[in-house]
Amino acid sequence: MTDKIAIIGFGNIAKAIITPLLDKNLIQPENVYCVVKSEKSLENIKKNYKHKINVYESGSKDSKIIWDCQVKLLSVKPQHFKDIIETDNVKIKDNLLVSILAGVSLNKLAQKFPKHTCVRVVTNIPITVGKGLTGISWGEKITKDQKQVTKKLFENSSKVYEFTEDYLDIFLALTSSAPAIIALIIEALSDGGLSGGLPKKMSEELVMEMIIGTISLIKENKLTTSELKNLVTSPGGTTISALRVLEKKSIRSALIESIVAASNRSKEFG
Ligand SMILES: NC(=O)c1ccc[n+]([C@@H]2O[C@H](COP(=O)([O-])OP(=O)(O)OC[C@H]3O[C@@H](n4cnc5c(N)ncnc54)[C@H](OP(=O)(O)O)[C@@H]3O)[C@@H](O)[C@H]2O)c1
Repeated sequence: MTDKIAIIGFGNIAKAIITPLLDKNLIQPENVYCVVKSEKSLENIKKNYKHKINVYESGSKDSKIIWDCQVKLLSVKPQHFKDIIETDNVKIKDNLLVSILAGVSLNKLAQKFPKHTCVRVVTNIPITVGKGLTGISWGEKITKDQKQVTKKLFENSSKVYEFTEDYLDIFLALTSSAPAIIALIIEALSDGGLSGGLPKKMSEELVMEMIIGTISLIKENKLTTSELKNLVTSPGGTTISALRVLEKKSIRSALIESIVAASNRSKEFG
């Protein structure tokens, strides 16, 4: 898919993106050049990572080799963005830099990496179990080949969507922030089970299986969410009693506003 690839910051998300590609032999370990900040992470990767990739400590002389790779994945935390400096002697042409940093705009990337064509990507934490969602916005002058390479990086661990940059904030809110909202809902519903006398662990398991089952039902039978709701809500029954409480507490509005707030916050970072 690509010859050499540089990974600037080899943490949780970068590992989730690169490991399936190495597992499937789509890239060779000797062609992966990654940089991390601490000696601890360096030693940990050398000792424990299952593929024998090249790894360097940031700031070391050897780490400059990453700038000789045509394709780079930028995957440090946003607060470390300022520490990454493009070297003067970038020799190769058609350099591609793919950033997964939350809230760092294409404009900022282009200013910081003028010798690269930049791509901004938003992905989410389920990518670590191969079930991610990835939104991509292309920078100026992107080539067809560069688009293909970028998509291939993410296709093995996530579903890939292409957007103009305006949509990335709402995409981030809905896919990257919402796992925390779902976790909160699971926790709260489980506490409901707990209140009814079920042990916590059992309660949580039931909630998660119910969610998985509900999604399968909607998808397999191609139901709308309203159809599903009507299916389980009988006149004067238990479900309408539950829904009535949620409507009184304005849960719909709370959830809508939570996504809008996450999106607005993401815009502030950009
Ligand atoms: N976590 C999420 O839910 C999520 C979801 C989607 C996207 N993202 C984005 O993905 C990016 C990475 O997140 P993560 O959770 O994978 O972070 P992480 O596990 O903390 O990994 C960050 C990596 O960057 C390295 N690093 C820090 N400063 C560096 C420098 N100056 N030069 C080279 N490497 C440096 C760190 O090295 P050390 O270990 O030595 O410090 C570490 O390997 C973030 O920008 C985030 O916005 C995160």
